[in-house]
Amino acid sequence: MYLSRFLSIHALWVTVSSVMQPYPLVWGHYDVCKTQIYTEEGKVWDYMACQPESTDMTKYLKVKLDPPDITCGDPPESFCAMGNPYMCNNECDASTPELAHPPELMFDFEGRHPSTFWQSATWKEYPKPLQVNITLSWSKTIELTDNIVITFESGRPDQMILEKSLDYGRTWQPYQYYATDCLDAFHMDPKSVKDLSQHTVLEIICTEEYSTGYTTNSKIIHFEIKDRFAFFAGPRLRNMASLYGQLDTTKKLRDFFTVTDLRIRLLRPAVGEIFVDELHLARYFYAISDIKVRGRCKCNLHATVCVYDNSKLTCECEHNTTGPDCGKCKKNYQGRPWSPGSYLPIPKGTANTCIPSISSIGKCYCNPLGSIHDRCNGSGFCECKTGTTGPKCDECLPGNSWHYGCQPNVCDNELLHCQNGGTCHNNVRCLCPAAYTGILCEKLRCEEAGSCGSDSSQGAPPQGSLALLLLLLLTTLLGTASPLLF
Ligand SMILES: *[C@@H]1O[C@H](CO)[C@@H](O)[C@H](O)[C@H]1NC(C)=O
Ligand SMILES: *[C@@H]1O[C@H](CO)[C@@H](O)[C@H](O)[C@H]1NC(C)=O
Ligand SMILES: *[C@@H]1O[C@H](CO)[C@@H](O)[C@H](O)[C@H]1NC(C)=O
Repeated sequence: MYLSRFLSIHALWVTVSSVMQPYPLVWGHYDVCKTQIYTEEGKVWDYMACQPESTDMTKYLKVKLDPPDITCGDPPESFCAMGNPYMCNNECDASTPELAHPPELMFDFEGRHPSTFWQSATWKEYPKPLQVNITLSWSKTIELTDNIVITFESGRPDQMILEKSLDYGRTWQPYQYYATDCLDAFHMDPKSVKDLSQHTVLEIICTEEYSTGYTTNSKIIHFEIKDRFAFFAGPRLRNMASLYGQLDTTKKLRDFFTVTDLRIRLLRPAVGEIFVDELHLARYFYAISDIKVRGRCKCNLHATVCVYDNSKLTCECEHNTTGPDCGKCKKNYQGRPWSPGSYLPIPKGTANTCIPSISSIGKCYCNPLGSIHDRCNGSGFCECKTGTTGPKCDECLPGNSWHYGCQPNVCDNELLHCQNGGTCHNNVRCLCPAAYTGILCEKLRCEEAGSCGSDSSQGAPPQGSLALLLLLLLTTLLGTASPLLF
């Protein structure tokens, strides 16, 4: 079943996005955005959690170096072979393609030998620090799905900070510190990700694991995304549902893996010894052959497709959402506040689709006399006053009658009978014979006056007739006036 879902989505994805290459579906069926199901109404789309494929994000970034002229080769200079102060006849020359080391070479294909790499100028100005910032910008929020891996051809730097921005480079925060001596370099105790736990996973650490200079064989530095995922999903990331459950509920955790930019701050090149060899400063420089950043466009679980168009990544938003990250509801779909979809598939999660705005449903004016508010509530219903019903709150429940809205009946033909020959007028009053009074004509008029059995009642008829006349007049007035009033 998941396979067929996958195939239909996959086909859709391939036709919509011609730029981003499809990758094997590592995240299983959670990647599926919608699926066609059969219901009594026929074939319909069922919407669920969705996100674009995880992919190689270095294809979509812009790189910026600070200082801008820090790349070697202009003017040409010679440098020493890695770790060898007596072989200093290697040349960097920006004007000769075979001898140039421009920044693009950090992101090209590294299947061949020798590796191609970016290289900085050498540390000629020692003891002034040799520092370089390499800023990678996507102009789009992305979510990291795998370790960031940086390969150094110059030995791993003695001091380095990986920083991240979540606001397109306006503000920056450290992601991880790297040093041969964390205490000395950053006044931090050395730690490794393995010292962390579910509760401390967001802690920013300084690690000495990757800074043993060029005396060892390894050239690689990691920022460990997967080890951090493993605190929730288990060592082999088998239980991704558990990770997704956490991501659904913990914004801080989601944000931890989210970036718009990364910055590699190279603070001190690999020295490999305690002292810098001042006679051979051409030994010291930075050289990076490869940077791996794998991730996906952040679309707030409202898109499966992210397109690269005009050098810009954009989510193809579904669920009637819009914006570069599908971060808001489309116009006329603001019937309830926007929220991200959830990682877990239905029924545990929800797609949180945007629903039509109240104002866009024309026919949604509720009867102003019968309803509490004159417009529908968030789910498109009129909320009726007591005794009132109907889609527009213009009908009365049994025992109530319309009289400037629904009012409880004073009299009716079922339960509340007018007595002593009285007749029920519009359910709001009984019209009583001359001799009777009370809401249901239940009392003798003379009782009320305290004059029953006395002679004065003999002379009463003219008065009684007058009262009847008045009542009739009132009836007529009410009878004609009420339709106008209603
Ligand atoms: C690198 O960026 C930091 C700010 O994050 C700044 O303080 C520093 O001066 C920059 N270094 C270089 C070499 O541009
Ligand atoms: C988005 O709105 C359109 C137009 O009202 C509707 O046909 C479609 O089903 C909506 N999509 C979702 C996912 O609710
Ligand atoms: C809107 O009113 C209906 C009917 O009273 C009710 O069932 C529904 O829960 C209400 N929806 C909201 C969002 O208040």
